[in-house]
Amino acid sequence: ASGPAFAAAPRRVPFGSAIQAEYFDDAGYRALFRDHCDIVLPMNELKFDLVHPEREVFAFEPADRLVDFATENGKRSRGHTVVWWNGVPPWLAALNDPREIETELRRHVDAVVGRYAGRLESWDVCNEVVAHEAPYDAPMRDSFWQRALGSRHIPIAFRAVAGADPKAKLVLNDYDLEFRGERYDRRRASIVEIARQLQDAAIRIDAVGIQGHLYADQAVDIEALGRFGEALKRMGIALIVTELDVIDWKISGGPAGQDAAAAKSVGDLLEGVFAAGPPLAVIAWGMTDRHSWVDDVMPHGDGTPSRPLPFDATGRPKHWFRLIE
Ligand code: XIL
Repeated sequence: ASGPAFAAAPRRVPFGSAIQAEYFDDAGYRALFRDHCDIVLPMNELKFDLVHPEREVFAFEPADRLVDFATENGKRSRGHTVVWWNGVPPWLAALNDPREIETELRRHVDAVVGRYAGRLESWDVCNEVVAHEAPYDAPMRDSFWQRALGSRHIPIAFRAVAGADPKAKLVLNDYDLEFRGERYDRRRASIVEIARQLQDAAIRIDAVGIQGHLYADQAVDIEALGRFGEALKRMGIALIVTELDVIDWKISGGPAGQDAAAAKSVGDLLEGVFAAGPPLAVIAWGMTDRHSWVDDVMPHGDGTPSRPLPFDATGRPKHWFRLIE
């Protein structure tokens, strides 16, 4: 083989990124999405608590603006996300009756997924449902949805989204699916198991979303990713990279060292993902280091800014962006 598998991909894979309403008025920010993306999606504006803040109140305007921006510029868009442990609005969290909660989930899907039906090519139906705490052997993460409905909240959500937008691809999205180690093997196995259970119940699942929040100091397991992709492919399930960025809080050597480490991480991820064939898309979690969640959650200890995204704070592309573009 000459070079990594993704370099020999038979077709260019669509590239996209998540955009945020609060920075939308910045023309330079918008231009990065307009000039470099095939897919532009709302980062937060379709999350449950933002789009459905009160039981009878939907707030569609911010998501509308972003989806309109995408379609008016000839781009595709996608939905993030329906079921998530985070972003459960207080009115919903206050409910106790499982039947009522199930009804509200269906009502939410009908209203939100139904509104954008035909305009979003895929939905992250369930986000981060796999267990993330030691000993990592419970397949499911503790969450409002899991406590209220048990693991059947997953098939309920997938069926509901399929009903509200029959053409949208249905995605099971999660993080920590790319690294080396038993913990990550378990997480990959849990995803395959959840997908199998959906299919056993004759429920469609089109793709697994690998979020791709990479840690530049943590090895990507290229072979394990390849096996994961192959196992899903045999089930008729594709991969999509949904939230790519690089967390470089433990990388020294300044910007040059960080960018070299990031390029290595992204290259390894793409090689592992492409082993089973081109993914549906590769999507970054923002475009410029000016606006990223990484400095809010995992900042460098020394006050220097993180460099997680394809373009630096001044708008210059990183080396790793050339691997994709
Ligand atoms: C993050 C956003 O980037 C932030 O702006 C927001 O404040 C919190 O959520 N995994 C996910 C995303 O699936 O929805 C998260 O996005 C990042 C981790």
